[in-house]
Amino acid sequence: FGLLGYDPGFLNTASCKSQVTYIDGEKGILRYRGYPIEQLAEKSSFLETAYLLIKGQLPDHDRLAAWGKNIQSHTMVHTNLAKFMDGFRYDGHPMGILVGTVGALSTFYPGAKNIFDKESRKLQVRRLIGKMPTLAAMSFRHSMGFPYVLPDNDLSYTGNFLSMMFKMTELKYTPNPVLEKALDVLFILHADHEQNCSTSAVRSVGSSQVDPYSALAAGCAALYGPLHGGANEAVIRMLERIGSVDRVPEFIRSVKSGEGRLMGFGHRVYKNYDPRARIIKKIAFEVFDVTGTNDLLDIALELERIALEDDYFVSRKLYPNVDFYSGLIYQAMGFPLDMFPVLFAIGRTPGWLAQWTEHVNDSEQKISRPRQMYLGEEQRDYVLIDERL
Ligand code: CMC
Repeated sequence: FGLLGYDPGFLNTASCKSQVTYIDGEKGILRYRGYPIEQLAEKSSFLETAYLLIKGQLPDHDRLAAWGKNIQSHTMVHTNLAKFMDGFRYDGHPMGILVGTVGALSTFYPGAKNIFDKESRKLQVRRLIGKMPTLAAMSFRHSMGFPYVLPDNDLSYTGNFLSMMFKMTELKYTPNPVLEKALDVLFILHADHEQNCSTSAVRSVGSSQVDPYSALAAGCAALYGPLHGGANEAVIRMLERIGSVDRVPEFIRSVKSGEGRLMGFGHRVYKNYDPRARIIKKIAFEVFDVTGTNDLLDIALELERIALEDDYFVSRKLYPNVDFYSGLIYQAMGFPLDMFPVLFAIGRTPGWLAQWTEHVNDSEQKISRPRQMYLGEEQRDYVLIDERL
């Protein structure tokens, strides 16, 4: 195989040079453009973090206001897109609908093919950040059979999303400020995570110089998979299966004997407490103060307590990851399980776009085209069908 390196899953391959996100998995560090995730979660907003990821710097007051107004001006979608959405099965999975409709946006904006035109690129970036919550909420309402709700641009980015999701009457929807803030922080925590599966998909598909709508549809498709966007749903299902706190020790024993995994624990990169999980745990209690809680939280807390003291998990450096508590928060806020990856997609959109922009501007990049190790047949001659043994 000559000099080819064999690296399934690209565990040891740096596919790009990037200035967007820094992770130190051993120390549990995550920074966007140099800013620690803890500071952004405490002090920033999702829209400001999106600005930071895309433009590389924090905005001043005027720039942030103009950015917010610009994004808001893109929250509506063409009525034909609503008709397109109506064509999905009545109970279609919202994430499948999102994959299709994000890709469909490319047919509404043919100018987006000009990916080397800086102004066009900026426009598509703002459009995608503006429209993602609208498509996300429409995908939910379609799957529930509820009428679509138009964007309310008096509300914040996240407040408007909650309104498009949950508004049930003609009256103006007023989001609960604690829940609105919690969801905004969850979006910040999901906004980028360097070369994860969906971001790699966006870069790889984008390397063909296709428009960003098609590239982000690929990102959404990657996120649809249970190993990427689906782990927090798996956590809820695991907690439901365990059923009560007194059954936790028995469950831990079964994990240790190899009968399954403790979902929401462990990470390919973090060999320490996932810094996002620490922040999420705090938010969880703020949300439960508003929504009330159920038995699943007690089961989760007991699981974490035992696992963090157990030699099996300690020796393998298995700590709670971002998904351990996020599903419980989403569930408490009223999101059904199949909306969890859709929420992830809203949060990850600025990260995908920052990485896509960086890729387009990187003159060292080429079309993604890995090689392979061929293990098939040597050359052989074609045999006519009547002569085959
Ligand atoms: N529960 C029990 N044992 C585990 C777990 C777990 N959650 N995760 C890893 N292990 C064990 C594994 O069995 C192996 O043990 P041994 O050395 O005895 O064979 C050892 O730890 C190393 O496991 P690995 O599969 O080589 O580790 P990985 O880095 O390939 O896997 C992972 C990372 C996230 C896929 C894995 O930890 C896992 O399956 N976790 C549960 C699913 C989950 O929570 N996924 C969400 C990840 S965070 C999402 C994101 O950041 O986008």
